[in-house]
Amino acid sequence: MTLEISAKAKAMQTQGIDICSFSAGEPDFDTPDHIKVAAQKALDAGKTRYGPAAGEPELRAAIAKKLQTDNQLHWEAQNIIVTNGGKHSLYNLMTVLIEAGDEVIIPAPYWVSYPEMVKLAGGTPVIVPTTAETDYKMTPDQLAAKITPQTKLLVFNSPSNPTGSVYTPEEVKAIAAVVAEHKQVYVVSDEIYEQILYGGMTHLSIGAVEAIRDRVIISNGFAKSYAMTGWRIGYAAATLELAQAMIKLQSHATSNVCTFAQYGAIAALEGTQAPLGTMMVAFTERRKYVLETIAQIPGIRCNTPMGAFYVWIDISALGLPSLEFCDRLLTDHHVAMIPGVAFGQDGCVRMSYATSLERIELGLERLSQFVGTLG
Ligand SMILES: Cc1ncc(COP(=O)(O)O)c(C=O)c1O
Repeated sequence: MTLEISAKAKAMQTQGIDICSFSAGEPDFDTPDHIKVAAQKALDAGKTRYGPAAGEPELRAAIAKKLQTDNQLHWEAQNIIVTNGGKHSLYNLMTVLIEAGDEVIIPAPYWVSYPEMVKLAGGTPVIVPTTAETDYKMTPDQLAAKITPQTKLLVFNSPSNPTGSVYTPEEVKAIAAVVAEHKQVYVVSDEIYEQILYGGMTHLSIGAVEAIRDRVIISNGFAKSYAMTGWRIGYAAATLELAQAMIKLQSHATSNVCTFAQYGAIAALEGTQAPLGTMMVAFTERRKYVLETIAQIPGIRCNTPMGAFYVWIDISALGLPSLEFCDRLLTDHHVAMIPGVAFGQDGCVRMSYATSLERIELGLERLSQFVGTLG
């Protein structure tokens, strides 16, 4: 569904129609120069051959160090697998961990690929709907109520795509406390937006909660924080047993991630973090504008997202299914957003503000006109 809207928006653009696109799941910034230079140097130095399936040793060591320093996660290089994006980490993990009949708990709204990966692995997604009242965050009681002897895995994503919600450290600990009581349950913590936070919010990795650390698999990547979506580099960190299973799978399926690209990732971790700061200044300004503007449009509302670069807009008062809302918004008003139904929650739409303030101003004006016609 998300691709359908994007494809239609692209087709309209090709016809010369001026589309304000708020569907992007990627920063609108270029990869920082020092990262590109590092990859170019690696290319020149002949880093063009097969490498170890688990990733370049130097990158695995740099990731282990980052996890220790930033996240209080005490994994060694041997616990790390470098993958073809964060998506591939999640896919590897689901494939090696989930058996037919296993249940996987996924709070909704969720990132579109989670339930599909679970189904591909033969498991059963168990969806936990959340509401605006809890800021679209699953409560410990909701989690406890869904756990059965068949529960194998919880998918935990904070900051969240699509809502931008961030679990506070206390909330993370409360979720971990429920998991701690059920020894058969693993957690995959998708932390791909961990550095995109607002208003002094902090990120606590659920894997840093000692009682469950061996049952938490970290999934992360370079796409969002370093504007490296096309580079396709992510990673997972897990116990040796799980890491080795994922490495074995990867070695037969795809082998190593592009060798010279991994040297760009090393530079991303070890070099200056200033470009992230620049990106955050822009995101912060846009987020403020979006929130202020939406608050002034009667009929729609949104919570205050504390992370990522999305706003989850509640359109339920307008009485239109989200797919129809997005289709009409695109066809008649030339604004692309993603329908909430794709993320497991109709009645909302996802707006990405990973685009210029100028486009945001124009697009929100058009949104306001459309919503006005529905009233
Ligand atoms: C929540 C979430 N997890 C994982 C990914 C995958 O990222 P990557 O590009 O590293 O595969 C995305 C990308 O949109 C995402 O939004």
